[in-house]
Amino acid sequence: MIVPIELENTKNITYDITIDALPQLTFDTKVAIVTNPTVAGYHLETLLAHIEAPQLEVITIPDGEEYKKLETVESILNALFEHKFDRKSLLIAFGGGVIGDMTGFTASLYQRGIDFIQIPTTLLSQVDASVGGKTGVNNKYGKNLIGAFYQPKAVYIDPAFLKTLPEREFAAGVAEIVKMAVMFDKDYFEFLVEADLKDEEVLKETIRRSVELKAWVVNQDEKEAGIRAVLNYGHTFGHVVENETNYTTYLHGEAVAIGMVMANALAVELGLMNEEEAERIKTLLEKSSLPTTYEIRDVDDFYEHFFLDKKSANNSIKFILPQGIGGHKIVTDIDETVVKNVLRTFGAA
Ligand SMILES: NC(=O)c1ccc[n+]([C@@H]2O[C@H](COP(=O)([O-])OP(=O)(O)OC[C@H]3O[C@@H](n4cnc5c(N)ncnc54)[C@H](O)[C@@H]3O)[C@@H](O)[C@H]2O)c1
Repeated sequence: MIVPIELENTKNITYDITIDALPQLTFDTKVAIVTNPTVAGYHLETLLAHIEAPQLEVITIPDGEEYKKLETVESILNALFEHKFDRKSLLIAFGGGVIGDMTGFTASLYQRGIDFIQIPTTLLSQVDASVGGKTGVNNKYGKNLIGAFYQPKAVYIDPAFLKTLPEREFAAGVAEIVKMAVMFDKDYFEFLVEADLKDEEVLKETIRRSVELKAWVVNQDEKEAGIRAVLNYGHTFGHVVENETNYTTYLHGEAVAIGMVMANALAVELGLMNEEEAERIKTLLEKSSLPTTYEIRDVDDFYEHFFLDKKSANNSIKFILPQGIGGHKIVTDIDETVVKNVLRTFGAA
């Protein structure tokens, strides 16, 4: 199955996202696969068996979000120079979102831009990070603050790679799937309530529907001037949770799950959603082995953290809230007392 990308404002950019067993890929240019030791250990042999190119290099970078930084990008660039790559050469991102974001960014920089392809291997990167062309790295000022919108030439999503993914990483990907369903598609939410993601066909169908939704959003708003911001549902709260716990307690998707529960509580308070709907979302997250509770120790402190988020423009906090299940509303003028009262229900003194 193929999901097409056709960006509305830049009609010359189109590419396909193929969700299927990885096909045989033949190139007439130099190709470098960028990966890390974990992914390479499990799957590099399989990938190499599917690729033919006049020169094929493998660039391995260390595994971990802490290596998503400019120094690593520079090390990839150096490897490309050493292998005498030219403007027609191609990069293949083979790994999770960290590898995808960094490889895409490197491709955007090498000799002012070369082609790249995404072959994502985590659930999160298959349903979210590999789609839409956001690339970049972190620095000491925050996450993903340096980067480029740079679209791949193709995305190949093969759910078979997920068989080796640790369960927690799998669940983190499910959080982003639930996010898409709650924001955009009630039928999809109902499908997820019934779905057994351990079933291969169900998993493939789930990935397809998520990718379709993400592509639908990105096609309308590549640069996040409008609807793409809705994909940050759960993230405003989630980022604070990640920050308060020094990025060590929760995976990003887990913090987003907690963040969605908090956003839902605020939506209930504002009359955008009823308690039963909020409870159904919580139950789905729990069924997916995701955390849904978090004890806020200091409400004032938690609230102040919202302003560290790069999405809190001009000192007003932008809340992405559900409107029932399958709808959304962006609200920027919520009274501080209302927000803090909701935060107090999360165990604060
Ligand atoms: N560009 C975007 O639109 C976008 C969207 C969401 C997230 N992101 C970014 O994605 C990153 C998170 O991505 P992630 O959750 O994939 O994390 P990740 O890339 O760190 O991968 C998680 C872990 O799983 C391992 N792994 C990958 N594939 C595996 C497999 N098949 N079997 C076993 N282990 C495997 C990785 O080596 C890593 O240790 C963050 O940096 C985030 O900023 C980007």
